[in-house]
Amino acid sequence: MLLERIEALKAQIAELQANNEEALEALRIKYLSKKGEVTALFNEFRNVPAEQKREFGQRLNELKTLATEKINALRDSCKAGESKAAKIDITRPAAAEEIGTRHPLTLVRKEIIRIFERLGFTLADGPEVEDDLHVFTSLNFAADHPARDMQDTFFIASDENDVTRNIVLRSHTSSVQSRVMLSSQPPIRIICPGRVYRNEAITARAHCFFHQIEGLYIDKNVSFADLKQVLLYFAKELFGPETKIRLRPSYFPFTEPSAEMDVSCMLCGGKGCSFCKNTGWVEILGCGMVDPNVLDACGIDSKEYTGYAFGVGVERITNLKYMVKDLRMFSENDVRFLREFETAH
Ligand code: PHE
Repeated sequence: MLLERIEALKAQIAELQANNEEALEALRIKYLSKKGEVTALFNEFRNVPAEQKREFGQRLNELKTLATEKINALRDSCKAGESKAAKIDITRPAAAEEIGTRHPLTLVRKEIIRIFERLGFTLADGPEVEDDLHVFTSLNFAADHPARDMQDTFFIASDENDVTRNIVLRSHTSSVQSRVMLSSQPPIRIICPGRVYRNEAITARAHCFFHQIEGLYIDKNVSFADLKQVLLYFAKELFGPETKIRLRPSYFPFTEPSAEMDVSCMLCGGKGCSFCKNTGWVEILGCGMVDPNVLDACGIDSKEYTGYAFGVGVERITNLKYMVKDLRMFSENDVRFLREFETAH
């Protein structure tokens, strides 16, 4: 009888659980206190016949050790649980969410777009993987124009006999102007922001991709003076009201006449400094009157309509506004560089 009770208690004690000090104390009292169940068995020990005392004594001691160890073990795990709970400071503010910053190129692209939107230009878009027609042929590039060469343009197929050879990564956003002209009639007043690709070695001053914003305005009686006024407004909005512009004759296959535009140096105000190589001017874009050949190639009557186009490099403008010296910074995603633009929003 007594033996069975000892075994039953052992089994019970092995299963004990307590997850706080009070529950644990209750268990201790239940089994090990003066009136506890283990102690009660000890009290019965004296009724055991002498020849069995040895065995019972051993069993009882085992039971007591088991109960004591079990309760100690439960106490240890209770304490560990409590100290873990104590480490959670619920009054502590949550870790701040890291908020990203706008990329400098995005900031400048948006700023440029906003300026032209105020002048009534709307946005147009086109694919980065283009065909020869939109990038070159419709834009009056002669068949042997060097821009078509492998050195400048990424061809999707390198084999000259491959039928996909006329698929290229666009080398300028002017491809969007030919798309819009081919699919709509004047008045056309659009700006086309986008990424362009050129097969150049990557250095501080050149990259195999960069961003442009193309502008195109076609209507009756559009003149070079209109172009000049729009670009002057653009330069003043972008670099400040004191900014002056200058147009130098240039050449593009799709504009005639063509020009490159300089703005007065934003560092020295035009007096001449090391930044503008003492000229007082820095170049910012290419522009011109849309060549009548281009209008006709795109289904727009060049006797009725004239137009101007311009193309701005977004990296170029960003470099000038924020004095970024190395083009590679724009695509390396170094957060220390990007964080510098936190306040520029
Ligand atoms: N597409 C020319 C370039 O990439 C820029 C340009 C656009 C020039 C429109 C004139 C008119 O260099």
